Amino acid sequence: MTNETEKNPLGTAVVTGASAGLGKIYADRLAKRGYNLILVARREDRLQAVAETLRNSHGVKVDTIVADLGTVVDLERVATVLSTNADITMLVNNAGTSTLAKLGDTALSDIKSMTDVNVTALVRLSLAALPAFRQRDHGVIINLGSVLSFHALPISSAYSGTKGYVLNFTRGLQDEVAGTGVRVQLVLPAATATDIWDLSGVPLTQLEPGTVMDAEECVDAALAGLDQGELITMPSLEDVQVLKDYEEARLKLMAASRTSKSASRYHVGN
Ligand SMILES: NC(=O)c1ccc[n+]([C@@H]2O[C@H](COP(=O)([O-])OP(=O)(O)OC[C@H]3O[C@@H](n4cnc5c(N)ncnc54)[C@H](OP(=O)(O)O)[C@@H]3O)[C@@H](O)[C@H]2O)c1
Repeated sequence: MTNETEKNPLGTAVVTGASAGLGKIYADRLAKRGYNLILVARREDRLQAVAETLRNSHGVKVDTIVADLGTVVDLERVATVLSTNADITMLVNNAGTSTLAKLGDTALSDIKSMTDVNVTALVRLSLAALPAFRQRDHGVIINLGSVLSFHALPISSAYSGTKGYVLNFTRGLQDEVAGTGVRVQLVLPAATATDIWDLSGVPLTQLEPGTVMDAEECVDAALAGLDQGELITMPSLEDVQVLKDYEEARLKLMAASRTSKSASRYHVGN
């Protein structure tokens, strides 16, 4: 067991959405690496069960915060812990929610939940963690996007919108901290076997066989990507050249659009 009076050299990792799915596995893997943990989610019974298991199996200190990150009061409570607990060295912005349906069939409250948790909470908690990380020139933020960060389906406009935000927010942040000791990793999983599918309205059983990754495999690959220094980790992408080509095309598109003149094809009849 960890002697609680001794400082843990790895520090403490905060994992949001640690009561289930990918977050629960992140918590396990980080505990196995020796991090103390602060686990955040709404379902207290599940959080306590995860915490108890990890304390017993890995001997680390595990605290829990029962919080609905979709509410300002709870979000601020977690943000305060992040901005005041000097032991925190890692933030895994994993909590997320998904409703997959055509926009007209999607309740405004579901769109709001996705925006509140997937976007607002992720940004708020990053903002809370960053000043101390920068001051110590040390710290890691892991943001969970999705392959739907760069793609949208007819049933995913709102969800893809939130994950597209995560992608560009994280890219900007990576550039902001480039050259410092602070690291920000963007993880873009494809379909992975967790409860999020049944909760989204598209049951996991409806997905094509052979397209769904095991949740443990996804997190293990994501952490391997972190260890390898990747900025963007796509656990299911075998040919990394495809991502390199995409990034190159993105930069080329950006460079090509930086001019004061409208394109000649639009000079019609003026
Ligand atoms: N599974 C996939 O196919 C997939 C693919 C790409 C990206 N992702 C992303 O990966 C992340 C993890 O998803 P998952 O698949 O592990 O989903 P999951 O199994 O449904 O778990 C989601 C976690 O987020 C927590 N959460 C949801 N709403 C919350 C709220 N308002 N406040 C606090 N915690 C909340 C849940 O805990 P409580 O219910 O206890 O609050 C749960 O622990 C998400 O950001 C998701 O978008 C997943």
